[in-house]
Amino acid sequence: MDIFPPSNTSTAFLILRGVVSGVTGCPIGTLDGLGETSPSLMQPSYIKDKYPSGKFSVKLGKKCGSACALTIPVDKLGREKLLDAIERAANRVIDANIPVQTFLFTKDELIDKYGHICFNQYELKDLKYSKKSLLISKGKKITVAYIKNTILAVSPVPVFASTGMIEKIVIEKRPDESLSKILSGKKARKCEIVIKFRVFDKLMNEDNVLKESVPEDNENAPDLSMLEPLLSKKVRMEKGTIFPMIIDDSKHYTDSVSTIIHHTSELTLDRKSGACTNDKTRITNNIDHVEEAIVNAFEVVGKVDYKNLVENFGSKLIDAELLSRFEALTVGRGTVPYLHRFLRRGLFFSHRDLHKICDCLELKKPLYLYTGRGPSSSAMHLGHLVPFLFTLWLQQALQCPVVIQMTDDEKFLFKGIYSDEKGDNLNNFAELTVENVRDIIACGFDPDKTFIFSDLNYVGTMYPNVVRIWKAVTAATVNNVFGFDGTSNIGKVAFPAIQAAPSFPSSFPTVLNADLTSNMACLIPCAIDQDPYFRITRDIAHKLTPKSHPLRGKPALIFSKFFPPLKGSDGKMSSSDETSAIFLTDTPEMIEQKIREHAFSGGKETSKLQRELGADLDVDVSFQWLRFFLEDDKELKCIENDYRTGTGFYWSTGSVKKKLINILVEFITEHKKRRENVTDDIIQKWMKERCLV
Ligand code: TRP
Repeated sequence: MDIFPPSNTSTAFLILRGVVSGVTGCPIGTLDGLGETSPSLMQPSYIKDKYPSGKFSVKLGKKCGSACALTIPVDKLGREKLLDAIERAANRVIDANIPVQTFLFTKDELIDKYGHICFNQYELKDLKYSKKSLLISKGKKITVAYIKNTILAVSPVPVFASTGMIEKIVIEKRPDESLSKILSGKKARKCEIVIKFRVFDKLMNEDNVLKESVPEDNENAPDLSMLEPLLSKKVRMEKGTIFPMIIDDSKHYTDSVSTIIHHTSELTLDRKSGACTNDKTRITNNIDHVEEAIVNAFEVVGKVDYKNLVENFGSKLIDAELLSRFEALTVGRGTVPYLHRFLRRGLFFSHRDLHKICDCLELKKPLYLYTGRGPSSSAMHLGHLVPFLFTLWLQQALQCPVVIQMTDDEKFLFKGIYSDEKGDNLNNFAELTVENVRDIIACGFDPDKTFIFSDLNYVGTMYPNVVRIWKAVTAATVNNVFGFDGTSNIGKVAFPAIQAAPSFPSSFPTVLNADLTSNMACLIPCAIDQDPYFRITRDIAHKLTPKSHPLRGKPALIFSKFFPPLKGSDGKMSSSDETSAIFLTDTPEMIEQKIREHAFSGGKETSKLQRELGADLDVDVSFQWLRFFLEDDKELKCIENDYRTGTGFYWSTGSVKKKLINILVEFITEHKKRRENVTDDIIQKWMKERCLV
């Protein structure tokens, strides 16, 4: 153990302290510093480990009930969920890449300006007893760090210049020491939670590459009025709020619910009493509140209620009538044998203006498909493939051109890094584009009807339209929809225009032989989290298209649900957690092992119970994945019946997993074979601007 943590860990301490306060609704302090109301870091310690780690416990107020808005759960599951919520909120702060400002104050100056809110319990005690504190009594100036909307606190050691220099923070969910203390009867500690975390920074093992925050002029320090949210007893980081907008303007975020869903509306948080309680229901309710799902263009977490999502987003469900009309216009043409399983099973479930696309098809008006991918990892996983498999089917059904945008620019703006020594990693995203394009080509698109482009290369051709979109959309709109604010880099704010541009045929003068007079309709298959981009696009579409356009210039959309992550049916897969997904490069052995070990099971704990009660298919990942990948409806139905009731051949998790393994090994082996044939030359051909019509 060491008292002085490195900057990554001290930054993580700060973030976590702020986040604990935000997630539990415990103010960072009271002005008089009296009463233990701040989530005070008790004995923060730095653990020298393979990865920098730290540990601290937080006491959420003396009688705990008085301090925070949320009831702190005392059961194991509740604790885990709380830690999980804290971890995710911390990582949202990291993703938002907020600057960490530091200032130097003398003790008196500090108390004068902020009362005692910057100190944690440990430091307050030192102050109170005038102990020879590390921080305070050396007569030195005290470093205070400020992370907007999150925390203002004393930091005895250097911290990073911005939160985004941390790659991620991982909280150890078990063993929960605080819980064992509680269970062993130390009631007073109910309100204490122990947080043990590991921190990964962006460029590990390369000391001093990541910039530390340089103390600024004290004039730039936040005024007390700016800290108001941090001082209020209010959950600031519940799911369903988009981080950068949480504080400044609460009406903002209710307006922009477009990107927000609150699907647990029946659960109301009892913020008044907040007393620590054993009452099971209250605890569960509170935690469920923390568990609200958030869906925006950048993150999908929590259990998604699609009906609610559609209501909030304002798209429409695909009903039986529309589906049979669409079937007649696709299958009925004789180009595909039957409706894609994604449509048969409601996995592509929502749309905008799909009936108008049907009108176009009936009248034989021209149309093209547009989809895309942000290349963030070299290997794509199964979830990434879903929109492409569907787009492929649409291309076969409609025999129309497809344009595929690779947003290497987007990924750099959101995930890129810069270091003084190595420069930035923009090229890295350009390289990922090529690898991802290989996977996309391997899906089997028609080479004569498909154009795949990297924004970094092609944006010049779209530029006139990008400029038109910039002119038509205000920063306020983009900020509202995506949750940006003044601290976001300007590329992020500008980017939505780049994703919007391919929705207009005139962005493809050569490829679609189109100009501003083109009446070509555009249909975009994508996952529903992309909707915010296209809502903006549709609003201004009339400015880039002729009056005679059949959809008034608006792109039509068809949306999929998320492909659930291996470890649990909620949310979507992430390529950063290796075991949360199956990659197109995985070997049959890896596929088998991952599914056997990690696929979340809805089966019962014992064979006996499984035979009696059957499995919960809604949460069973193997079954959910079979819905995406098993073509045969009859077989799927049979598996569903057996597994749900714990009878027949597919009565158990093991048998269902085995089926899934077989299907996926076959699917991925085939995909790999096709992928191997995609040479760099071939990639160049597909990415060359050429006429497809
Ligand atoms: N933003 C998408 C992503 O991060 C990539 C994308 C660009 C896209 N254009 C699109 C996705 C059109 C669907 C449709 O993956």
